[in-house]
Amino acid sequence: MRKNIVAGNWKMNLNYADAQSLMYQLLEYKKNNQTNCEVYIAPPSLYLTKAKDIFENGEIGIFAQDVSEYQSGAYTGELSVDMLSSININGSLVSHSERRLYHGETDSHANRKIKNLLDKNLTPIYCNGENLDQRKNGDYLEVVGNQTKTALFTLSAEEIKKVVIAYEPVWAIGTGETATAEQAQEVHAFIRDLIANQYGKEVADEISILYGGSVKPENAKEIFSMPDVDGGLIGGAALKIEDFSKIIEGFN
Ligand code: G3P
Repeated sequence: MRKNIVAGNWKMNLNYADAQSLMYQLLEYKKNNQTNCEVYIAPPSLYLTKAKDIFENGEIGIFAQDVSEYQSGAYTGELSVDMLSSININGSLVSHSERRLYHGETDSHANRKIKNLLDKNLTPIYCNGENLDQRKNGDYLEVVGNQTKTALFTLSAEEIKKVVIAYEPVWAIGTGETATAEQAQEVHAFIRDLIANQYGKEVADEISILYGGSVKPENAKEIFSMPDVDGGLIGGAALKIEDFSKIIEGFN
């Protein structure tokens, strides 16, 4: 079901004390402020159980940053969907560009991970986006289109409606080079049209598509105002409550 979402991807940041402190600040913020969006965090996996303890009433959605494509077994260092489900985690990021870059993840891996999550009623936040060369040479829509089709188009209509998509142009991640609101809208609308052509407009209009890539307090409101932008996946600015809360207020 389509909804406004602001999700914080903490990546490999914050020691346990600082992570707890940020979680309690976020809990306090949520208790004292009405938000016009759902708020999620994806902390390092080490802190997932603590996050579930702190947000015991579901004030914040708790997501893993990655999940194995396998059900269980000899996969050192990996986490399975069943493990996440067993501690009531809401879902997981899938195929973030840093997993693609440093760990060779592809959209075929993403497809399997997304299916595993949906089979356990967990929410996938599927990440895609072009790199700088693909943007500069004008291939970005073809690239994002192929990523989307490979990762999602084996799903049923009922399944794809449960997927959250995060368009994150790689050249905007961590660079301060935010896509303009119009650039984000163009790709979001393209993704939604692609899904509409495959599954019908009604299904496509049910899907939340988030923008990620240097979202900051000063640009969030304009980006979120675009008709096909349903929120953001936030990296650096999610690590400070004063910035993350102002981004959440981008929906006010
Ligand atoms: O997953 C969100 C992240 O990749 C964006 O990072 O620091 O550009 O907001 P940042």
